[in-house]
Amino acid sequence: MNWKILEQRSYTPYSNTPKACIVVGKSGNYYPGVRVENISFPLTIPAIQAACCFSLADGDTPESVLLKDESYPEQLDFWVKEFDLKKEVVSSIENIQFGDATISLESSQVKNRLIDLLKDAITIHSDFPVSALLLTPAGYVSGVNVEVSDWTFGLCAERLAIAKTISYGIDNLESMSLHTLKGEFSSPCGACRQVIHEHLPDNEINFFHADGTLSVHYTSDLLPLSFSSTSLIK
Ligand code: THU
Repeated sequence: MNWKILEQRSYTPYSNTPKACIVVGKSGNYYPGVRVENISFPLTIPAIQAACCFSLADGDTPESVLLKDESYPEQLDFWVKEFDLKKEVVSSIENIQFGDATISLESSQVKNRLIDLLKDAITIHSDFPVSALLLTPAGYVSGVNVEVSDWTFGLCAERLAIAKTISYGIDNLESMSLHTLKGEFSSPCGACRQVIHEHLPDNEINFFHADGTLSVHYTSDLLPLSFSSTSLIK
């Protein structure tokens, strides 16, 4: 891996300012994070938020963060303080290898895997676990919700799965499935709908509900009359 390739995975069509970092977990595993912008400014996912949340969702604890140079990615101060992260500027990441972000599953196994994943959610405030599986040609990419000390810096399951797919360099997001067992009706929040719209605009989103039923929806129905980003992309 090198910084240029990692930065190029960023989704930054609006500002053209790609950012990347690598979080090293206590386990010794490396987690790549890239900036994932959204047409709605505050829904942009900073590289460091993405990488820290991937490590937490894996049951790991962020221990240090590797950066390309001194132009630190946004939100760095919060995450450094939250986990007492060591900051290291490293020019070469040649020997670094990331784990496989994909899981191979039959579609009939999705529901049970979503239920299994719920135990990985970190819900210190809400006690409301959510899981997501994003289908790509390379396999499924998982996400769970991760909450940290500051409520505003947590990440929903759906957005974590999208940021992970992009940070691991996987293209062609095909469909998303999500599950909660606590609410009566599983349904993505407004922020997730906007982010789902950006990356899976015409796709199917499967909601697995607490009573074991499934309902299938199209993104365009989840966010009717949406603001389309396509006309802005340079
Ligand atoms: N949550 C998700 O993960 N996805 C959604 O679409 C709805 C909300 C999470 C965020 C927070 O951790 C908890 O559920 C309660 O809002």
